[in-house]
Amino acid sequence: MRVRVGIIGGTGISTLLSRAVEKNVKTPYGKASDKVLLGDLSGKRVAFIARHGKKHEIPPHSINHRANIYALKSLGVKNIISTSSVGIINANIRIGDFIILDDFLDFTKKPYTFFDKFDKKPVHVDLTNPFSPKLREILIGVCKEKGYSFQEKGIYVNTSGPRLETPAEIRMFNNLGADVVGQTIVPEVILSRELGIEYASIAVGVNYACGISEKPLSYEEVEEGMKRKEKQLKEIIKEVVGRINS
Ligand code: HPA
Repeated sequence: MRVRVGIIGGTGISTLLSRAVEKNVKTPYGKASDKVLLGDLSGKRVAFIARHGKKHEIPPHSINHRANIYALKSLGVKNIISTSSVGIINANIRIGDFIILDDFLDFTKKPYTFFDKFDKKPVHVDLTNPFSPKLREILIGVCKEKGYSFQEKGIYVNTSGPRLETPAEIRMFNNLGADVVGQTIVPEVILSRELGIEYASIAVGVNYACGISEKPLSYEEVEEGMKRKEKQLKEIIKEVVGRINS
């Protein structure tokens, strides 16, 4: 069976796969975050990568995003669904809401591209619809059917991490229109577009961002927030993968 769907996320999602085998995929960009896990889900053979490594040992700024996306591409992947946790900036979003991201602000501190050199012609990818409308529609449809609390849209601002943001930064991001903040998704969207892969992302709002929340943030809060939503998230992913054609 051909692999057409890739999933990038936390290790919890990998438990969805049956008949799973690990594959060491070589890339011209070095090592992916982990071996790619190939397994069955909803009648499809899918490829999964644990973004932060098997033991969550890779911090956001050290993730080899190019290797991750290239590895999936080289296996034949044409659609990527990713999951992540985010801090909430827009006070209308509730803790535990799923957010189907539709746009982004890039505040990473290094460029992410496969085109370090223009070989044949200049390449400046279009990002009018940064997240795949086709995959977003499926995600939204499934969230609606399941009746889970979710937001149909959300502007994601990406910082480099691993530190969290300051109150002034969050105020600025709020003024710029960002809804949620995270440290991983924007490189993946850009690189997927550069390789012609459909990419969409479902985020989980796990904490109010710095300054919006009165108390200091902790990683435990993020981890617990994700744990609480893991069962629902897995149900969504399972259903979504079944609905992806081509
Ligand atoms: N900031 C950045 N990334 C995050 C946050 C946050 O508050 N919560 C979860 N990921």
